[in-house]
Amino acid sequence: MTEINREGTTIALVNNKGGVGKTTTAVNLAACLADDGHRVLLVDLDAQSSASLSLGLTRANLFPGSAEAILDGVQPRDAIRASRISGLSIMPGSMSLASADIYLADVENRELVLHSALKQLRSEYDFIVLDCPPSLGLLTVNALTSADFFLVPVTPDYLGFEGLLNLMDAVDRIKAGIGKAGSFLGIVLTMADYRQNVTKEIGGAIRQKYGHLVFLTEIKVNVRLKEAPSFGKAINEYDKGCSGAKAYREFTKEALKRIDQGDFQLRRRYPEVRSNP
Ligand SMILES: Nc1ncnc2c1ncn2[C@@H]1O[C@H](COP(=O)(O)OP(=O)(O)OP(=O)(O)O)[C@@H](O)[C@H]1O
Ligand SMILES: [Mg+2]
Repeated sequence: MTEINREGTTIALVNNKGGVGKTTTAVNLAACLADDGHRVLLVDLDAQSSASLSLGLTRANLFPGSAEAILDGVQPRDAIRASRISGLSIMPGSMSLASADIYLADVENRELVLHSALKQLRSEYDFIVLDCPPSLGLLTVNALTSADFFLVPVTPDYLGFEGLLNLMDAVDRIKAGIGKAGSFLGIVLTMADYRQNVTKEIGGAIRQKYGHLVFLTEIKVNVRLKEAPSFGKAINEYDKGCSGAKAYREFTKEALKRIDQGDFQLRRRYPEVRSNP
């Protein structure tokens, strides 16, 4: 059987709604992929630095990071650190990202600066995971144009569902405007809490509306997932046996399956690096 070439496959975690599990999903997807033996780069595009801190980086170790690579011409390779997890590297995010929209306003091809920064790194990683801020500003637009796939975490509650409708609309408009953006990998229900009636009701409504686009795997509410970042650990390091760890391992398997099914799209976009002898 020919091995699939996933070189540089880039996945962005996108939702302009805050606190829906983008970072938790980015960190644990990246860590699970690395645990499976893949070479993974996690790029933190959020000024809150949550992904970087969740993997144990200290505030003193955030520079140079993604802001410097995107905005200041620092060599992208120089903005990357190894993490404690074998195979997982990180390009940290810092407060400097907060002014990205203003900084990039007059820059030519401002929607493509991240794409350019990542270009030379793609051959060095199997997967690049992008953790986006809770906005649809230029950093998220850059993530959408750099990504082969984008993933939308959503909490199954009323505002989560409402936000999803707007987000899908907005992403379509961005895609149409720029004419270049990744494919939709799917929606993942996060922090699902079945002690609340609304979860079943709204989760069901999301599944009914978006059908197979919604991942079968749900990430249920799990206190260990909430604790892990304060120890700077991915969930597999913090508590490999907890339900949150199992859910993210299952989710990663499902995501890989979806990516492999969509491999033809990858080849079409990057024929020079995707050709598989
Ligand atoms: N399945 C879960 N169970 C319990 N807590 C969770 C779960 N997933 C995420 N959390 C917690 O919920 C909070 C928000 O999650 P997270 O930071 O991943 O969201 P986000 O979408 O990245 O937020 P932001 O929009 O601010 O970047 C965090 O405190 C996180 O630890
Ligand atoms: Mg986040």
